[in-house]
Amino acid sequence: MAKIAVVPGDGIGKEVVPEGVRVLQHLAARDGLDLQFESFDLGADRYLDDGTTMPDATMQRWRDEFDAILLGALGDPRVPSNVHAADILLGSRFKLDLFINLRPIRLLDARYCPIKGKTPDDMDIVVFRENTEGLYTGIGGQFKRGTPDEVAIEAEMNTRKGVERIIRAAFEYADRQKKASVCMSDKSNAMRHGHDLWQRTFKEVAAEYPHIRPFHLFVDVLCMELVRAPEQFDVIVTNNLFGDIVTDLGAQLQGGIGLAASGNIHPGRVSLFEPVHGSAPTIAGQGIANPLATVLSVGMLLTHLGHDGLEAELQRAVGAVLEAGQVTRELGGDLTTRAATDAVLKHL
Ligand code: IPM
Ligand code: MN
Repeated sequence: MAKIAVVPGDGIGKEVVPEGVRVLQHLAARDGLDLQFESFDLGADRYLDDGTTMPDATMQRWRDEFDAILLGALGDPRVPSNVHAADILLGSRFKLDLFINLRPIRLLDARYCPIKGKTPDDMDIVVFRENTEGLYTGIGGQFKRGTPDEVAIEAEMNTRKGVERIIRAAFEYADRQKKASVCMSDKSNAMRHGHDLWQRTFKEVAAEYPHIRPFHLFVDVLCMELVRAPEQFDVIVTNNLFGDIVTDLGAQLQGGIGLAASGNIHPGRVSLFEPVHGSAPTIAGQGIANPLATVLSVGMLLTHLGHDGLEAELQRAVGAVLEAGQVTRELGGDLTTRAATDAVLKHL
C-alpha cells in the first residue's frame, strides 16, 4: 500500500491536481495498485481563514506515514508576501530533506518546440537541481533597512555533503539510465569559494564513474548551449538557483510551462511531485488549465513508488495527445482541463 498526500493548493492547482488523482486512480484500478489518498487543506484560502501555513504536525505525518505528496501550485494575489507558499513548498523541501529537484527537459512533440528543426531525439535531458541549500536558505540579513546606507546580504550556502549528494545522484541516474554524460554547471569563474567546492567535488565523484563523460559549463554558457544545441546534453547537475532558472528555460524548450514536470525527491523517503507551473490566477476557475504537467509529474511519482514502466507509458500518452492536437487553449487546442485528461486516459 502506498499513501499519497494530496495538496491542490491555489488557483489552477485546484483544477489540475484532481486530474492527476484521476490518472492515478485509473492506473491503480487497471493494474491493481493499492494507492490511498488523503487530501490536505493548505494554501491561501486556509491561510486567510485561520493563519495556518504549514502545521508541524502535518509535516511530521507526511514524514512518518506517507510515500508521496502531490502538490498543485501555491500563490495567490491576496497573499502578496507568499508566506504560505514559502512555508509549504520550501518548508517541505528543507524539512523533508528533499535534496533532489528532478526536472526533465523532454521534447515529446517537435511541433511545440520553439527551436526550429529539433525533434524528440534531440531533447531528452534531466536536470538535477540541488534543492536544500545554495541561495535558498535565507541566510543573510538586512542592516540599516530603509535608509540610504542599507545593506542586504543573501549568503549562498554550499556544503560538501550537499554538493556531493546531488552530484552523486546525477551520476547514479546516468549510470542506471545508461546516459552518456553528466554536465555540471556553476559560476566558478566569478564565485571562487562555493563553486570551487562544486568543481572539486564534481571531479572526485566523476572519477568513480569512468564510463560516463563528465563536462562542465558556466551557467551563462549553459543557457546559450541549451538553446543552440540541446542534443549535447543528457544529465545536468547544478545548484538551487541556477537549476530554478535553467529549468524554466527548459520548460519553454519542451513546449511550455504547461508541460514541465518535477519531483522533489529524497530517495527512499516521502517525496513531493508537482507541475513546475504556478497557480496562474488569471485563468484559474475557468477549467482551461493544462493538466499535462501534472500528468507527467504523476508519472514521476509512480516511478518513485517503484512502479516501473508507468512513467514511460504516461509520457507516450502525453506525446500522443500532443500529436493529435488534443490539448488546452495555450497549446492551440480547445479542450478543457477535464477533456484533456480524458484524452490522455484514452491512450493508456
Ligand atoms: C519553483 C519555484 C520556486 C523556486 C519558488 C516559488 C520559490 O519557482 O519551484 O521553481 O524558486 O524554487
Ligand atoms: Mn521556478
